[in-house]
Amino acid sequence: MSDNPTSEIDRYKKLLEISRDLASTVELDALLNRIIFAAQEITNSEAASILLYDPIEKKLFFQNATNMDPRLQGISVPMDSIAGWILQHRKTVMLDDVSKDERHFDSVAKKVEVNTRSLIGVPLISKGEVIGVLEVINKKTGHYDLTDEESMVVLGAQAAVAIENSRLFYQSDHIYEFVHELRTPLAAISTATYLLMRSEISKEQSEKIIKNINSETKRLSELASSFLDLARLQSGRTRYQKKNIEVGSMVDECIAILQPKAIEDGITISRSVQVGIPEIIADRDKLKQVLINLISNAIKYNKTNGTVKVDVTFTKSLCTFVVTDDGFGIPSSAIPNLFKKFYRVSGIEGKVTGTGLGLAISKEIIQGHGGNIEIDSKENAGTKISFNIPFIASDIRA
Ligand SMILES: Nc1ncnc2c1ncn2[C@@H]1O[C@H](COP(=O)(O)OP(=O)(O)OP(=O)(O)O)[C@@H](O)[C@H]1O
Ligand SMILES: [Mg+2]
Repeated sequence: MSDNPTSEIDRYKKLLEISRDLASTVELDALLNRIIFAAQEITNSEAASILLYDPIEKKLFFQNATNMDPRLQGISVPMDSIAGWILQHRKTVMLDDVSKDERHFDSVAKKVEVNTRSLIGVPLISKGEVIGVLEVINKKTGHYDLTDEESMVVLGAQAAVAIENSRLFYQSDHIYEFVHELRTPLAAISTATYLLMRSEISKEQSEKIIKNINSETKRLSELASSFLDLARLQSGRTRYQKKNIEVGSMVDECIAILQPKAIEDGITISRSVQVGIPEIIADRDKLKQVLINLISNAIKYNKTNGTVKVDVTFTKSLCTFVVTDDGFGIPSSAIPNLFKKFYRVSGIEGKVTGTGLGLAISKEIIQGHGGNIEIDSKENAGTKISFNIPFIASDIRA
């Protein structure tokens, strides 16, 4: 026990406060941040971090840290590190001098030049499953004591439950909406097969019905894969593969993919990329996914002889992509809903196919890169969607 009873009471008060706070936070990133700042504060440490275990990749990843260094993001921590040991043994570790411990994972410290002297790490266990590790490093004054360890154990237990609840909350929410969305195409397929079974229908009618079944099953499969994409992005488990990207050629690749559809619809695509643009550091495939969705929207929600423009410009810190079309436009009342999943502007459903997930996915990807996405549109005049990506990859969520 600490020899200072006032700080002891303060600490329990703080723990109680945090416990209430954690119970009411469901958004995973915000939740993890609250946990690490609480851990840092309550143990009077220089820094705190959370590592989460990915059971699919069977790896432990740095997720959030109070002093998050860009070079730390996305790095997986080997199982023979201290955090790996905590995960596998499900035991708390308290060390006064980390350098004397052979489990110390030196390459992490070297990478960020953090000089780790002392450490407390606790396993995060929820319903018997170990889901990650919570660590604090370098007590600001004096040494970590049993009260610090006890606080970390209590906080770790609360954090594990809160993380699990957040995941379940999003899962159940997702599943409900997904099943709801499945009902329309399934009903269409069911009606179509029923009609096909009737003997009196003509060959033409049956061909039309089969075409209908085909397009509805395609829609179902697109819905399933987009939905899984979004669920993974929202759960915070997507790992962005950072690469140096030459913007011009990436834009050209996206346009080339959509050119046949544009020609089919009588739409002209033009592009301009500011001269001298530096390479950006981002996940190339994910960024292409965003651009393809935006250009595809600009083609889909457009008229014959319409135009689509892709412009890329840059400032010292940001690279900005703008996709402009002179198509249907979007009513101002619909704009606030566009990034919500499954949302489609009413009246469009029967005319143009889509799942209503493209923009929700795009927003997740852009925000995951530390950028912003915005829509400016006027009904019957056209739409302009712009997003930016910071050149410094420090904001990319690992
Ligand atoms: N450029 C645009 N012009 C007019 N309306 C648009 C444009 N882009 C998006 N919208 C409207 O926003 C809705 C949501 O777009 P989003 O890309 O999320 O889904 P989608 O295109 O319907 O389906 P998906 O991209 O998943 O195939 C669209 O259904 C459409 O109503
Ligand atoms: Mg779309």
